[in-house]
Amino acid sequence: MPATVITGIGELTTHDDELGPLADAALVLEGDRVAWVGSSRHAPAADERVDVGGRAVLPGWVDSHTHLVFAGDRTDEFAARMSGQPYRAGGIAVTVDATRRASDTELADTLRRHVDEAAAQGTTCVETKTGYGLTVADELRSAKVAAGIADEITFLGAHLVPPGTDADDYVDLVCGDMLDAVAEHVGWCDVFCEEGAFDATQSRRVLHAARQRGLGLRVHGNQLGPGPGVALAVELDAASVDHCTHLSTADVDALANSDTVATLLPACDLSTRQPLPDARALLDAGATVALASNCNPGSSYTSSMAFCVATAVLQMRMSITEAVLAATWGGARALRRETGDGAVGVLRPGARADVHVLDAPSTTWLAYRPGVPLTHAVWRKGDRVR
Ligand code: NIG
Repeated sequence: MPATVITGIGELTTHDDELGPLADAALVLEGDRVAWVGSSRHAPAADERVDVGGRAVLPGWVDSHTHLVFAGDRTDEFAARMSGQPYRAGGIAVTVDATRRASDTELADTLRRHVDEAAAQGTTCVETKTGYGLTVADELRSAKVAAGIADEITFLGAHLVPPGTDADDYVDLVCGDMLDAVAEHVGWCDVFCEEGAFDATQSRRVLHAARQRGLGLRVHGNQLGPGPGVALAVELDAASVDHCTHLSTADVDALANSDTVATLLPACDLSTRQPLPDARALLDAGATVALASNCNPGSSYTSSMAFCVATAVLQMRMSITEAVLAATWGGARALRRETGDGAVGVLRPGARADVHVLDAPSTTWLAYRPGVPLTHAVWRKGDRVR
């Protein structure tokens, strides 16, 4: 297998405690794995040598929350929001309409375009959700479209009760025929547990039905106001509860004493004019925090993880180290992919060869130079994609 050695690294972030601080570091990529990490003086021979000229190197971003199987856009809704209209879960129905009318090819092209857009900015692992189909056939094709393009696929049939449908009948459909059709094509099930979407009882039913079919669990919770989403996620040992914009002290404590990751989506909170989540309370209590883009055409139309990191540092009082960890290892942990062979969000021998080189001497520049495109080079599964 061809090997590449990356030398001239000014600052190397590995998220591997055993490697410790490395001066004059080098990395060797072989096939789709990291083969070696150490001081460049001891680097093994490789087929290709890339000197990054003192730049900072870190794991590729792990974007653990997006909704990229969609068609159309919601520019007018966004503009209305910027003129003072509130964000409502019901806007999802506009995208559902457009998605149902789109062909499989259009949906796949749109998804691929956004995954490529993200990769050009250093994102090397992407989760995406269904949830703009909301019929058995449209949820199934959304899952199939995502296969082979996204790294992780989440079934989100419980995104919105389709207008004109009885909520309990729809939950029956999601828990029965829809999950039966979709389960073999996805790894995860999510539910939007929020006023205007699904209450705790309905959400619990969906998550139980998903667990019975062997799926991992995730929850959208506490996005638009206080609510039962976080407590439900912790009760069911979900891998992640996402948004966490409105948290009580009990929610923070519950997360800190659980294995459930608190995934924060600051770009979404800005785009919906919600307050930013209290990352400090979560981190100080000992909860595991991830940062993700929530890229979707309604509440958060950005694929920029660097923007999320800069916002987390500048506005949410996360340190640079905490924010970078949350956007790489934290996202991987939210997807349960941070350990073992092919781990993401870390750079150690055996990890996936997902490498992000910044056009900067250190990751501090991600917040020091906000809004400036700082991606210099990206390897994804060992292939240079930028
Ligand atoms: O994460 N919260 C629910 N789902 C998306 C919104 C999708 C949309 O508005 O289209 C979210 O913000």
